[in-house]
Amino acid sequence: MENKNILIAVTGGIAAYKACELVRLLVKNDLTVKVMMTQNAVKLVSPLTFKVLSKNQVCTDDFLPETDGSATHIALAKWAGAVVVAPATANTIGKFVNGIADNFVTTTLMAVPETTPLFFAPAMNDNMWNNVFVRENMKKLAVRKSCHVIGPESGMLADGSSGIGRMSEPGAIMECLGKVIAN
Ligand SMILES: Cc1cc2nc3c(=O)[nH]c(=O)nc-3n(C[C@H](O)[C@H](O)[C@H](O)COP(=O)(O)O)c2cc1C
Repeated sequence: MENKNILIAVTGGIAAYKACELVRLLVKNDLTVKVMMTQNAVKLVSPLTFKVLSKNQVCTDDFLPETDGSATHIALAKWAGAVVVAPATANTIGKFVNGIADNFVTTTLMAVPETTPLFFAPAMNDNMWNNVFVRENMKKLAVRKSCHVIGPESGMLADGSSGIGRMSEPGAIMECLGKVIAN
């Protein structure tokens, strides 16, 4: 992969804090990283944290009055050599596979060219992961070319229970990404 620009999409899962470490690892490995966040992700981790770690502006909205009027979602989708959605909520996965583009992140994901590698690192409660409609949505994801699903892992979940749904560790996500971008 010639284009080593990595776009990270952070959605509103508690594992958003792990995305900070992912960004740090990618930057440490000399990749150029930009981060976009959903409004729910912003409630969990500050965009400023990702701005500092990625050394780039963080995009959350291109309808703000202070933007220059260009369609940032299209430019960002073209800029990316690979896109990683981490954590990927049930909500954002569901929207993506059903062609819904109702916020900055889902709109940008929809504009990513089909040949660009797109990674999803799902993270959610085990009942959500086992929900019949989430299962159907995960099958639909495989329909897209160059789509890779990383995890989730089993272990302790945010509510203290044990089950499947933990986001894969940043190192494991980095490894999967590395294998694809090395080719
Ligand atoms: C503290 C907290 C933690 C959450 N963690 C998750 C999660 O790990 N996975 C998930 O799918 N939803 C989680 N949710 C619910 C999502 O935030 C919710 O479905 C939201 O609509 C997702 O929006 P987004 O996909 O646009 O970020 C959590 C909500 C809260 C309040």
